[in-house]
Amino acid sequence: MEILTTVSATRRFIAAHKQQGKTVGLVPTMGYLHQGHLSLVEGARKDNDVVVVSIFVNPTQFGPQEDLDRYPRDMEKDRNSCHQAGVDAIFMPSAAEMYQPGFDTWVQVGSVTETLCGASRPGHFRGVATVVTKLFNIVQPHRAYFGLKDFQQAVVIKKMVQDLNMPVEIVALPTVREEDGLAVSSRNEYLTPKERAQARVLYRALRAGKELILAGECQAQAIRKAMEDEINSVPAAKIDYVSVCDPTTLAEVDAIAPATLLALAVKIGDTRLIDNMLVEI
Ligand code: PAJ
Repeated sequence: MEILTTVSATRRFIAAHKQQGKTVGLVPTMGYLHQGHLSLVEGARKDNDVVVVSIFVNPTQFGPQEDLDRYPRDMEKDRNSCHQAGVDAIFMPSAAEMYQPGFDTWVQVGSVTETLCGASRPGHFRGVATVVTKLFNIVQPHRAYFGLKDFQQAVVIKKMVQDLNMPVEIVALPTVREEDGLAVSSRNEYLTPKERAQARVLYRALRAGKELILAGECQAQAIRKAMEDEINSVPAAKIDYVSVCDPTTLAEVDAIAPATLLALAVKIGDTRLIDNMLVEI
């Protein structure tokens, strides 16, 4: 397994493999790899000859009050996980390699970045779209893999690729969950044992919403209220948003459609967690 830290070394690595007619799959990550990330690696392994995992805690997608400095890192463990998962190369640039002095070009996707997490994290998706564009330009993968755990992020990236004619196929894969339903996330690391127990409420709320829809409730407001009540029953939980929206536009809906996205962001203590569930009837 190659460890690539510069753009030029990565280009050489990719060119050598493409010359042999090999296909390349990219899994962009911020490291501290877990089963969710590894499910993307597994998907990439199946579809491509060469798998590159990028590990870069991208400063431009964190707000000034956010957790950039304390974002968990464990390079040794990540290296082992990648090695065992059959990754061909890790691209792990420094911040200075990715953002040269005077860097001043941004990729701004439109209305799908304005709702949900975009509303509470201004500038977040601009940072994500910009760094993912850079990663696509550096690695030039045939396919890139994203998790539906970050449903809005997958929508934003697909929209960007479509609107800007980027020659990469976006593959979005299901959310990997812990046994009790909590979506696996690097940020779960921040939870105290007591908070970890209370964090189950995100999945419980989504399930409650889904069950209501399947039982025939078609007023989105009733679904929102049921999910909010579930979350508010937990003392440590503070709602950022509870959304019943269209899975393509991410705009709030009034009535349940054949495909409806339930999405939420909740603070458990100081830790902001997100989750979602697509409900099809
Ligand atoms: P990160 O949070 O490290 O996530 C990397 C990828 O793993 C994302 O596509 C995310 O959706 C996916 N993922 C995380 N938890 C998952 C789970 N439980 N099940 C399935 N997939 C999961 O998302 C980012 O990094 C960054 O924004 C990035 C795209 C790398 C740009 O900096």
